[in-house]
Amino acid sequence: MYQTKIIATGSYVPERVLSNFDLEKMVDTSDEWIRSRTGIAERHISSESEASSDLGAAAAQEALKRAGLKPEEIDLILVATITPDMFFPSTACFIQDKIGAEHAAAFDIAAACSGFIFGLSIADSYLRSGAFKHILLIGAETLTKVTDWKDRNTCVLFGDGAGAVVLRREEGEAGLLSTHLFSDGSLSALLNLPGGGSRNPTSERSLRQGLHFIKMNGNETFKVAVRSLEQACREALSHNGLDASQIDLFIPHQANYRIIQAVASRLDFPLERVYLTLERHGNTSAASIPLALDEAVMSGRVKAKDLLLLSSFGGGMTWASAVIRW
Ligand code: ACO
Repeated sequence: MYQTKIIATGSYVPERVLSNFDLEKMVDTSDEWIRSRTGIAERHISSESEASSDLGAAAAQEALKRAGLKPEEIDLILVATITPDMFFPSTACFIQDKIGAEHAAAFDIAAACSGFIFGLSIADSYLRSGAFKHILLIGAETLTKVTDWKDRNTCVLFGDGAGAVVLRREEGEAGLLSTHLFSDGSLSALLNLPGGGSRNPTSERSLRQGLHFIKMNGNETFKVAVRSLEQACREALSHNGLDASQIDLFIPHQANYRIIQAVASRLDFPLERVYLTLERHGNTSAASIPLALDEAVMSGRVKAKDLLLLSSFGGGMTWASAVIRW
């Protein structure tokens, strides 16, 4: 039996750390409020000269090294991001150049925080069809570049980082068992970045109105997030004939500890088997799951044959889940 297998992982976070105490000096907030409402204590912030492709390339190089592959052996680079270096070329093209993956096709995936799981599904289809042999999938974000540092409702939530995986079709039981993708464009107003596109081209007005920053209805997003994550997880479990007790590690999108807690409780999932990086990374959108996965794998928390459940939600709205036998 052939499966799509993650043969290596990698990650990168920028050096600079911004703590809740630093934020106390910037907006009317407190470490206590941020910790108790979100579970976040600090987040990494990219420097002025660092773009998403720089973070993504560093994560990709680590994953390639661990896979024992040369960049020229990669056939396709997929980058999940909502903070591309530019509208075009794609961030995937920038990464292709930076790492020297000269034989790879490259394109980006815009599915917000669900981008990594959407990417797993795309990679799986290409590998199953035989179109490509080695795929590099990266989640890379610099959300702090599109954050309104005067808006306490959003600026406490986000951080920067990148995670990467190398995928290959291999014989055996281990691999990606299924992916489940969902979207509901009628909820686009809950969470978006309205400026700079063809709806609101960059102008003095768009800048004055701050349309180039992330806008979010936090309360409503919270409710939809809990509902959609639960649904995506249930779908993944039932598709594979599993119940929550059989999952060794649940790696949810790291947006808010209370969201994760609510979902785990609805699924009867003990929090000891939920992997959390939120406290140190904040919400890194499409990078959050691959970052957490890399950490979990490298720290020995994930062992051969373990069953992993991944689940995410984000702007769109989009939501998704995946089950992996490691
Ligand atoms: N510090 C102190 N007080 C604050 C802060 C802050 N940073 N932010 C908001 N408040 C205040 C509000 O102004 C409000 O005050 P009021 O009652 O006087 O009006 C009060 O705290 C409560 O605000 P709520 O919005 O009701 O707080 P809530 O408990 O819902 O928490 C939060 C807000 C953390 C944003 C939560 O709603 C949330 O996490 N939502 C989901 C966010 C999310 O996951 N988004 C995904 C984005 S990922 C992507 O696609 C990029």
